[in-house]
Amino acid sequence: MMVDKALHVLVGSLFFLIWFGGSLPNANAQLSPTFYDETCPNASAIIQGVLVQALQTDPRIGASLTRLHFHDCFVDGCDGSILLDNTDTIESEKEAVPNNNSARGFDVVDDIKAALENACPGIVSCADILAVAAEESVWLAGGPSWTVPLGRRDSLIANRSGANSSIPAASESLDVLKSKFAAVGLDTSSDLVALSGAHTFGRAKCSSFNLRLYNFSGSGNPDPTLNTTYLAALQQLCPQGGNGSVVANLDPTTSDAFDRNYFSNLQTNEGLLRSDQELFSTTGADTIDVVNNFSSNQTAFFESFAVSMIRMGNISPLTGTDGEIRLNCRKVNGVSTGSNALLVSSI
Ligand code: HEM
Ligand SMILES: *[C@@H]1O[C@H](CO)[C@@H](O)[C@H](O)[C@H]1NC(C)=O
Ligand SMILES: *[C@@H]1O[C@H](CO)[C@@H](O)[C@H](O)[C@H]1NC(C)=O
Ligand SMILES: *[C@@H]1O[C@H](CO)[C@@H](O)[C@H](O)[C@H]1NC(C)=O
Ligand SMILES: *[C@@H]1O[C@H](CO)[C@@H](O)[C@H](O)[C@H]1NC(C)=O
Ligand SMILES: *[C@@H]1O[C@H](CO)[C@@H](O)[C@H](O)[C@H]1NC(C)=O
Ligand SMILES: *[C@@H]1O[C@H](CO)[C@@H](O)[C@H](O)[C@H]1NC(C)=O
Ligand SMILES: *[C@@H]1O[C@H](CO)[C@@H](O)[C@H](O)[C@H]1NC(C)=O
Ligand SMILES: *[C@@H]1O[C@H](CO)[C@@H](O)[C@H](O)[C@H]1NC(C)=O
Ligand SMILES: *[C@@H]1O[C@H](CO)[C@@H](O)[C@H](O)[C@H]1NC(C)=O
Repeated sequence: MMVDKALHVLVGSLFFLIWFGGSLPNANAQLSPTFYDETCPNASAIIQGVLVQALQTDPRIGASLTRLHFHDCFVDGCDGSILLDNTDTIESEKEAVPNNNSARGFDVVDDIKAALENACPGIVSCADILAVAAEESVWLAGGPSWTVPLGRRDSLIANRSGANSSIPAASESLDVLKSKFAAVGLDTSSDLVALSGAHTFGRAKCSSFNLRLYNFSGSGNPDPTLNTTYLAALQQLCPQGGNGSVVANLDPTTSDAFDRNYFSNLQTNEGLLRSDQELFSTTGADTIDVVNNFSSNQTAFFESFAVSMIRMGNISPLTGTDGEIRLNCRKVNGVSTGSNALLVSSI
């Protein structure tokens, strides 16, 4: 079933044209919202259709796909590199520290790719699938929609050490988060706060925040910024030395809805990750006003989130004849049966 958002998108595009036309610092002129209009006009609807189906059995899947786009873009740009499996020559990003046993949604990406290959073979890149899936996921969870610039191509390589070092970690301080956003050309206040608002849906493992509950920064005590009522609930869910794979909602108030509550949680010291609470609890930080703004004004959050997602989606895309359109998001084209296949295809 199609969810109608034509009017919303129209209003969104007018807003961007008037307000941001041509002024995005790392906008890439080669990406275009009309990229597939001739070659795969139904691409977004096909992606939405698979997502609506997947959400019926997994209400978390939209959050997981949104995170995949983020983790793709922060490593050598939005090029589908996170989707590649290990081979003799590829050390996958999937198994990098920030992704291993926590990045999810790869099978749904496969389902989307299969549906697109069926409708328009060899046209839609895996990198673009992640960008559209993120937008559709946010929209289906009650968040904003936006017109997604398209035309990214897929990488021939993965970069596990890059994923290790470039993707921010839950335990990091505001300074480190800012430096990692700056490293990919994003703003260290507006983009950082707006995009962190994606933690309004989805889950995190106990192992991602356990130290805050029992031994924060080697102090032997919990993180003093944690709301004590919330702390007690989290300690019950995640006992010391317990199963680190148990998950908690990133937004304890409205776990699967895309709304402003992530920001009001920070105001009551109920940010789940250290990286969340830092945005509000770091003395004198320029991020505090932005949190307060988004907490009191959901429209401001939604508009900023859309702008920042487009900026993130514009990080160093492969375009033109660079890279390729993968036929299977997990594999580089033409490499199937080891060294003989490589040899033959390179003649
Ligand atoms: C600011 C720095 C960020 C840090 C340190 C961070 C860290 C994390 C961590 C540790 C998790 C839980 C992983 C697990 O325990 O399995 C998580 C989940 C998530 N992150 Fe972030 N994140 C950041 C920014 C972002 C951004 C920019 C987005 C997207 C725009 C995003 C979207 C998500 C989503 C949707 C989830 C839930 C995924 C799921 O349920 O499968 N995060 N993040
Ligand atoms: C576009 O895709 C959707 C979802 O798969 C489908 O319901 C619809 O019939 C398609 N429209 C066209 C014109 O092919
Ligand atoms: C990823 O996690 C799996 C399962 O825990 C583990 O066997 C594997 O060694 C990990 N990969 C890396 C590169 O650490
Ligand atoms: C990624 O980080 C892990 C843990 O620090 C390390 O064991 C691994 O060698 C790193 N991988 C690469 C490719 O740098
Ligand atoms: C891998 O990522 C690192 C850190 O982002 C970067 O410095 C390096 O150039 C990348 N390597 C390749 C081969 O793209
Ligand atoms: C807390 O962490 C520090 C540093 O990692 C360690 O030395 C200390 O033993 C830990 N304390 C407790 C009570 O686990
Ligand atoms: C740990 O928790 C995860 C998630 O709930 C579960 O799948 C796994 O079986 C648990 N492991 C153990 C050893 O209980
Ligand atoms: C802790 O959380 C509760 C419930 O949201 C809230 O009423 C209270 O004000 C919070 N306390 C602090 C110190 O933020
Ligand atoms: C909320 O934010 C929107 C978008 O920035 C703005 O137009 C509106 O005036 C704000 N509302 C209030 C009550 O400040
Ligand atoms: C709140 O955010 C909106 C959208 O980014 C912005 O236009 C507005 O100026 C901000 N308001 C305040 C009071 O910071």
